[in-house]
Amino acid sequence: MARLLGVSLLVAGLGCVLLVVPSESAADDVSALLAFKKAIFEDPLAKLSDWNSKDENPCGWTGVGCSPFDNRVVTLELTNSSLKGFLALEIESLSSLQKLILDHNTLMGPIPKGIGKLRNLIMLNLSTNQLDGPIPIEIGEMPKISKIDLRANRLDGAIPPEIGNLTSLTELQLSNNSLTGTIPGSNDSSMVSTNSDGQIGLCRLTQLTDMDLSYNYLVGDVPTCFTQIRRLSLVGNCFENNDTTNRPDNQCENSQRGNESSRVDGNQQKSFQQPLWLLILEVITAISLLTVLTLCTIAGLRRCKARSSRNSGTWTRAISWKENTVISIDDDLLANVPKISRQELAEACEDFSNIIGSTHDTVVYKGTMKDGSEIAVVSLSASVHYWTSYVELYFQKEASGRNGKIES
Ligand SMILES: *[C@@H]1O[C@H](CO)[C@@H](O)[C@H](O)[C@H]1NC(C)=O
Ligand SMILES: *[C@@H]1O[C@H](CO)[C@@H](O)[C@H](O)[C@H]1NC(C)=O
Ligand SMILES: *[C@@H]1O[C@H](CO)[C@@H](O)[C@H](O)[C@H]1NC(C)=O
Ligand SMILES: *[C@@H]1O[C@H](CO)[C@@H](O)[C@H](O)[C@H]1NC(C)=O
Ligand SMILES: *[C@@H]1O[C@H](CO)[C@@H](O)[C@H](O)[C@H]1NC(C)=O
Ligand SMILES: *[C@@H]1O[C@H](CO)[C@@H](O)[C@H](O)[C@H]1NC(C)=O
Ligand SMILES: *[C@@H]1O[C@H](CO)[C@@H](O)[C@H](O)[C@H]1NC(C)=O
Repeated sequence: MARLLGVSLLVAGLGCVLLVVPSESAADDVSALLAFKKAIFEDPLAKLSDWNSKDENPCGWTGVGCSPFDNRVVTLELTNSSLKGFLALEIESLSSLQKLILDHNTLMGPIPKGIGKLRNLIMLNLSTNQLDGPIPIEIGEMPKISKIDLRANRLDGAIPPEIGNLTSLTELQLSNNSLTGTIPGSNDSSMVSTNSDGQIGLCRLTQLTDMDLSYNYLVGDVPTCFTQIRRLSLVGNCFENNDTTNRPDNQCENSQRGNESSRVDGNQQKSFQQPLWLLILEVITAISLLTVLTLCTIAGLRRCKARSSRNSGTWTRAISWKENTVISIDDDLLANVPKISRQELAEACEDFSNIIGSTHDTVVYKGTMKDGSEIAVVSLSASVHYWTSYVELYFQKEASGRNGKIES
């Protein structure tokens, strides 16, 4: 109710802004930045504390820079700021953005495809985070981009040949990820068609002076055009040449010789590379969280309270989420996810007596289900403040995405 009121106040507020400031897009910047803030669930240095939803002008906010001509946001720079969270899809609305610099944080999840809508972007620096999934092919739609730095993340899949469209690119840093497949433009790459000047893939990047593809799992050969690049590093890959700078053979066994099939969905590749126990742990985390949340939503507060009175504090805390947050459940997404009731979990885990591990905010229990299968249950406590619908949906997506794998 309070939230609804807040939203309508915000809408009313934006309405007023629109009357005063003719540019609708400046208001889009504010809502995009607020969405960015919402997707960050840990900000221990309080960098975003002055990002106030009542402000109609974000230009004074920490890390935000505006154009003096039209007050549009042109830079978002929060280097090394201990931010933990996701990259909100809404950043695609920052249509005047020229610099997006968020390196040395703990950003997780995928790079949003909408990044390709940032047609004015000149510099993209997301290095040293924990971003995963493939590099979106939409990255090839930013005509002005000059520097891309995605090094030291967990990106997988192939290097999209669309990067070859970025003719203004001078620097490309992709080292220390888990990229696979061939380099677009190499003899082995699947691209056969050439453009007018006969160059393909990354060989079309005539402005490129700095490129680092080191410490990935790239295969095939190195395009001959790379001899033109002034600063180039390719060490720690799985190239065809028997070069000593390659990874040792045993690290390369899993990286197939790339062809068309190397361009598969990043999610699929990731789940093959992850150890099974980690996968199961993640699924169980998601399922147990979901179970608690779903139970609380469906069964209602009173019943939850009655049940939890017999149980440990961890679960009691979970119930308070219901009191304070709106929980969004995506039914379609979860259609195939088995739901284990908390009671079933409690029985399987002998009332959560069998603790097999813990970190400062999680406890892992071992249990045996009625059908004999062994499970690990992760109980995770998060402050209500950090448990946003964004995080919620992320866990739901993880659970639904991996469900098929634990059953097999
Ligand atoms: C990040 O900030 C911390 C403390 O503020 C500092 O010690 C560290 O050197 C910084 N790291 C980088 C890469 O700038
Ligand atoms: C990205 O940020 C890091 C740390 O601030 C910096 O060392 C690196 O040079 C930046 N990348 C580019 C392409 O400017
Ligand atoms: C971008 O690159 C892809 C693959 O290299 C190509 O098919 C596409 O036509 C290019 N788009 C533009 C606008 O150049
Ligand atoms: C990349 O990985 C190499 C080898 O593991 C390591 O020496 C280097 O420090 C890493 N670089 C970054 C930027 O993380
Ligand atoms: C790629 O193919 C060309 C022509 O077919 C050949 O001259 C060149 O040596 C090949 N490059 C590599 C690295 O194999
Ligand atoms: C690389 O080494 C393997 C054995 O270690 C050999 O079978 C293969 O022919 C070599 N390839 C080249 C291109 O030298
Ligand atoms: C590409 O990969 C698929 C599946 O791994 C394989 O069947 C096919 O023969 C490969 N094609 C080439 C040209 O290597």
